[in-house]
Amino acid sequence: MKNLKNYKIINKKVLFRADLNVPVVDGVITDISRILSIKSSIRKLILNKNKIFIISHFGRPNGKIVEKFSLNFIIESLKKILEIEKIHFLKNLDTNNIINITSEMQNGEVCLIENIRFQKEEEKNDFKFAENISNLFDVYVNDAFSASHRNHTSITGFAKFIPAIAGDHLLKEINNIDLFLQNSKKPNMAIIGGSKISSKIKLLNNLVEQFSTIAIGGAMANTFLLANQNSIGNSLIEENLIEEALNIKLKSKKFNCKLILPVDVVCGKNINDIKPIHRKIDEISKEEMILDIGKITTKLINEEIINSKMVLWNGPVGAFEKKPYDKATNEIAKTIKLNAKKLNIYTLAGGGDTISAIKQTNSEDGFNYISNAGGAFLEWLEGNESPGVIALKGNKIT
Ligand code: 3PG
Ligand code: MG
Repeated sequence: MKNLKNYKIINKKVLFRADLNVPVVDGVITDISRILSIKSSIRKLILNKNKIFIISHFGRPNGKIVEKFSLNFIIESLKKILEIEKIHFLKNLDTNNIINITSEMQNGEVCLIENIRFQKEEEKNDFKFAENISNLFDVYVNDAFSASHRNHTSITGFAKFIPAIAGDHLLKEINNIDLFLQNSKKPNMAIIGGSKISSKIKLLNNLVEQFSTIAIGGAMANTFLLANQNSIGNSLIEENLIEEALNIKLKSKKFNCKLILPVDVVCGKNINDIKPIHRKIDEISKEEMILDIGKITTKLINEEIINSKMVLWNGPVGAFEKKPYDKATNEIAKTIKLNAKKLNIYTLAGGGDTISAIKQTNSEDGFNYISNAGGAFLEWLEGNESPGVIALKGNKIT
């Protein structure tokens, strides 16, 4: 795979795929790690006097111009974090506009392109569109591992026409996740939570073959509890996945993988309920919702962490975005922080909410690596190379 060390890019027009799909709450960016992650590559390209066109998606505007998804808002943060004085802004990918702005720009300057998902061709991975845009640039750099599981024009399309180079952060992500996968030491443990049940249940199928213990929290645990015939009240559930949950239970026995499911939980009437009730798993009433795992379950998980040689973590174990339902997730982050180095536990975490929990508790130094990817991280763990990485590897144009 070509990268910024083995392939020199000097005085070129560079199409640079970043993932600026940052979390924003009330107009404020709550985590800047995706911006920080492109700094190394961008600074090198600036130093080498390239004209750099940053391309990214933001949200899911579905091929239409939706003002609230404009990337304009991010320019000031980009300038500050990347230490750039001036950033041009290109409103659309009209050929003449690109040509004009390219001639206006000095070497070493940066231009941000408006949300690429405003273009209907992006998600269709339109061949002609990719060719027309590529013709206006010299090289393509992909530094967006976290979006590389999408088979879209800006991830896989340009690589068909111009030299395609892996950015520093993309390389760092795959090297670190691979390192974890290759260094399997038992007993090892995976903690899987979050609310996207259907996309993660596939992952569990794979993990039971590789891990000694899997702790399941978040909304995913509800499906397993219901499969075990526990009543879960009003909790979030995907009923069509119950059979899948039963299959995973069976498979875990076959592979000698211990599943930790909640034995106690914290319930509320809804996510805004500020009077949580602690419940044993057989005490949940009809109108209650499970919003976090309870203290007995948290203790079980924490004890298992301490006895493991490796820990993989993706997804909060409760409705982490609302206090006090962030409690168990924060406890887990703190347990890892306090014990990982001391007990030589190899730890890997990924996913937006998981990063927030780790940052909220200042637990970063308890982790060997924290990926800023969510879906892409999971797919890589399932053993699927991202289409974006396949496109980089397959690119033979120099
Ligand atoms: C992410 O936030 O996981 C990536 O930016 C991909 O976004 P998407 O799920 O909207 O494709
Ligand atoms: Mg995602």
